[in-house]
Amino acid sequence: MNVDNRIARAEELLATIPELPTVPTVIVSIVQKLHDPEVDIQEILDLLLMDQVLTIRLLRLANSPYYSTMKNIVSLKEAILYLGLDHIKEVIYTCSIVDLFREGKGVIDRATLWSHALGVALVSKRIAKKVGYAEPDNAYIAGLLHDIGEVFLNYYLEPMFAQIAQKAKAEGHSFHGVESLLLGTTHNEVGHVIGRRWNVPKFVTDAMLYHHEPTHAPQDDAGLVSIIAVADQFCRWRSIDYGGYEVSEGGETEYAAWCRMAGHFPGIDADAIETILRDLDNAIEDIRLQVESIFLFI
Ligand SMILES: [Fe+2]
Ligand SMILES: [Fe+2]
Repeated sequence: MNVDNRIARAEELLATIPELPTVPTVIVSIVQKLHDPEVDIQEILDLLLMDQVLTIRLLRLANSPYYSTMKNIVSLKEAILYLGLDHIKEVIYTCSIVDLFREGKGVIDRATLWSHALGVALVSKRIAKKVGYAEPDNAYIAGLLHDIGEVFLNYYLEPMFAQIAQKAKAEGHSFHGVESLLLGTTHNEVGHVIGRRWNVPKFVTDAMLYHHEPTHAPQDDAGLVSIIAVADQFCRWRSIDYGGYEVSEGGETEYAAWCRMAGHFPGIDADAIETILRDLDNAIEDIRLQVESIFLFI
């Protein structure tokens, strides 16, 4: 089944779910403004102040050890000035999606889902910096949201997702392979459809759709999608995964992603890849601590 058919099936599936959560419109407006190069900080501040819960979360996260601020940030203006617009962007995304992860429901628990999302976000950002991708914060955002379709299947199609998870575990398959078989679509298309409804930027919906098939990604986002694909594989190999339900894919997806990256970023050869992977391995305990720190402070 081709991607268009799988997207159509994802639309059908989502239409059967009443009360599909949405991202508050104020957040959609903020996110759109943050991707505008001409953005006015005062406008962002005004929009943020309309959402008190978001404001409180944002200040807590800005004061967390991950952002390791030396001073106590007490106002939104300070947070924006101190962290800069790029970091604020990733903090806002992180704070905005936390409510989609719920306690006590679903096959996979909230902490596990969060760890994988944050782990892939942090690893993607590190890889982006190392390969010279111009906007590492966008890599964080795309990494954070890459599997949002999985989060939805887990919470909103629980009986079916339980079957998918059990089959993947018993037979040693990837989730997306089993999803395709049992649902006629996968978390990639489900995420893509949801992302489009939320008006998230195209680089995010491309990462959602193609992170298991980086060779199919459109040329303009192929570099970023490949970074997410490698980060996803890396996290699964280092057990920042879905609690052992899903086996790691073979090396084909990762190899394809590195090849695609080589076409986008100069100097990506076997030696560079080895160095990047070694650096990531050396940083793995730090990455785990950062995941925990963000998780606790949000
Ligand atoms: Fe995935
Ligand atoms: Fe993933």
